[in-house]
Amino acid sequence: MAMTRLAAALALAAPLLLGAAPRADDWHDPALSPDRRAALVLAAMTREEKLAMVIGDFASDQVGKPDAHPPAAAREGSAGYVPGVPRLGIPPLWEADAAMGVATQPTARTSRPAVALPSTLATIASWDEGVARAGGAMIGGEARRYGFNVLLAGGINLTREPRNGRNFEYGGEDPLLAGRMVGAQIAGIQSNHIVSTVKHYVLNAQQTDQFTLDARIDPAALRQSDLLAFQIAIERGRPGAVMCAYNIVNGAYACENAPLLRDVLKARWGYPGWVMSDWGAVHSTVASANAGLDQESAATFDAQPYFGAPLAAAIDAGQVPAARLDDMVRRILRAMFANGLFDHPVAIAPIDTAADTAVSQDAAERGAVLLRNARATLPLRAAALRRIVVIGGHADAGVLSGGGSSQVHPRGGSAVKGLAPTGWPGPVIYLPSSPLAELRRAMPGVTIDYLDGRDPAAAARAAARADAAIVFATQWTAESQDTSLTLPDAQNALIDAVARAAPRSVVVLETGGAVLMPWAERVDAILQAWYPGAGGGAAIARLLTGAVNPSGHLPITLPRDDRAGRCRPFGGAPTPGARFTVDYCEGAAVGYKAFDRDGIAPLYPFGHGLSYTRFAFAAPRIARDARGLHATTVIRNTGARTGAAVAQLYVERVGGGWEAPRRLAGWARRTLAPGARQAATIAIDPRLLATFDTAGGQWVIAPGRYRFRIGASSRDLGPPVDIVLPATRFGA
Ligand code: GLC
Repeated sequence: MAMTRLAAALALAAPLLLGAAPRADDWHDPALSPDRRAALVLAAMTREEKLAMVIGDFASDQVGKPDAHPPAAAREGSAGYVPGVPRLGIPPLWEADAAMGVATQPTARTSRPAVALPSTLATIASWDEGVARAGGAMIGGEARRYGFNVLLAGGINLTREPRNGRNFEYGGEDPLLAGRMVGAQIAGIQSNHIVSTVKHYVLNAQQTDQFTLDARIDPAALRQSDLLAFQIAIERGRPGAVMCAYNIVNGAYACENAPLLRDVLKARWGYPGWVMSDWGAVHSTVASANAGLDQESAATFDAQPYFGAPLAAAIDAGQVPAARLDDMVRRILRAMFANGLFDHPVAIAPIDTAADTAVSQDAAERGAVLLRNARATLPLRAAALRRIVVIGGHADAGVLSGGGSSQVHPRGGSAVKGLAPTGWPGPVIYLPSSPLAELRRAMPGVTIDYLDGRDPAAAARAAARADAAIVFATQWTAESQDTSLTLPDAQNALIDAVARAAPRSVVVLETGGAVLMPWAERVDAILQAWYPGAGGGAAIARLLTGAVNPSGHLPITLPRDDRAGRCRPFGGAPTPGARFTVDYCEGAAVGYKAFDRDGIAPLYPFGHGLSYTRFAFAAPRIARDARGLHATTVIRNTGARTGAAVAQLYVERVGGGWEAPRRLAGWARRTLAPGARQAATIAIDPRLLATFDTAGGQWVIAPGRYRFRIGASSRDLGPPVDIVLPATRFGA
């Protein structure tokens, strides 16, 4: 076989090697670079074929447009479809959402059952790039087996607004953590020879009036925050496509924003892939084409098709260079070659649900964060317990997932039927992995009762009769809407009632992000399980019973109240549909950085996460070698059981001058047996020591003293180690 392939490659390459003019079909030669192959195909395409490649269809029936239906060749019930060019063997683009797995659109005529990962925020909370990569590989494999060659994953927008209904899909507060973790997820997805996106470029930080809000931010602050997250994710994951966002950024729609698309993404960063719009995010032909948009997605969502006939007319009128159309198509083709869409065409194949669920469960177990564990309440010890009561959160049926375009449908549908809203951005889906059933399986000798939690008094009575009470507190969040930070459905009162009555009280959170916890010091233990995915019930049970030692750390700040750390009002336009401004006055001081700058104590800080064991971190030794600066520490397990530690490195510029007192500069996750110790070396990205000089277009490290600390969270830091750095400037 290998010889045949070699012979074929040589036969194809021979003319090239001999300097002969390449034939159009030489692009089959896998030995040629993606750029070369794309150029060869492009040269063979007609203008009509090129124009057909830069505009897509929605691949589902469309709410409000009864006559808009997906093309027959699309994968019905999915997100997008772009026809290929059979004459040249260019495959279509079959596009599915998203970062938790193969999603099914709410208007789908048939559901595509798939395995849901935990929320992206849960994966980020593992601080383990291997978890992110494995999860990406799993959902990319399912996408491939369903016949999709583009997965619209890679949501990375920083958590600027804790109420954002899509925080569960994104990367948390810190650009380094988000960039590396989402970059790993993208790499995992693309290991299946399909394209992943990174989205939504940029500053798509709230759902309220996202189509008309003008996100205002200092350009340097943007480079040091959201754009840095995108830059790192693109470096690490090499996504084939970037999806530009709905909102306006500093006065120009994101999908026609030349400074962001043409200047930063393509010119400065040298991004070789293509920019696709979000669904309904295009507002022009000439402006968007010349600003760097390469493909209009699902044109039926726009006021009109902008990249169809209007683009041809704009080229004919000389408003858009013909070379721009070639550049659009070349970028798409290059990404398709670079990710194997030509050489490894997708084909429908069976899915290994059990194996994929195991991947999801592992991510849930590593991403869950033990926030509080007073009196060593956890892990639950079956030998010491006679009766437990489990209350609320539909814990008898399953675990909650987030709503919107990323919604993965499990086989058999939701474990809880009929929850409102049943229409967009619903349906509300509970994944059929029951924490109650798994707890009963894990502790067969213990009587475990269940109450649905609607009657706090009954719950309190049951809690009083039990040795321990576990309340499951849930908050459904979804695309297209923002939420309050207050738990809905009187769950705070329920938790208070149970905490007062129970000998031991545990709260398990299934939320999309931050929620307020006025009862936090009144319960014994709190486990943040996020939206824990297809294996979430088993993961929660194993964490509560100690079969797994919690090791997650917060990628977001959990505030004591919902005003903390805010420099701007929240909400939407005074009149619906009117353009309005959101002034991101926090700049690069996103999340924990604003809390540190303003001296506000959070309830639980960024990076926080407890374990059933304890760790100690040696002060960092900072050294420089040919690759740059790095910090070395020694991590010790000083407790009595094996666990995973996340040694977090924070850096401060002594004397100030940054957006905040300190920044995450790296981390190392290590699993250690009791008494074991292990050295860990953390490379320091110089951009984390710098500010961005927009005038000069460079990163600038100011001369002076820089202070490094290692710790278990952004607020639990060890002794400082200072170094002096010279003035340095560097590019991109
Ligand atoms: C949505 C989302 C985007 C998704 C796309 C396709 O509106 O903003 O994340 O990939 O449309 O469903």
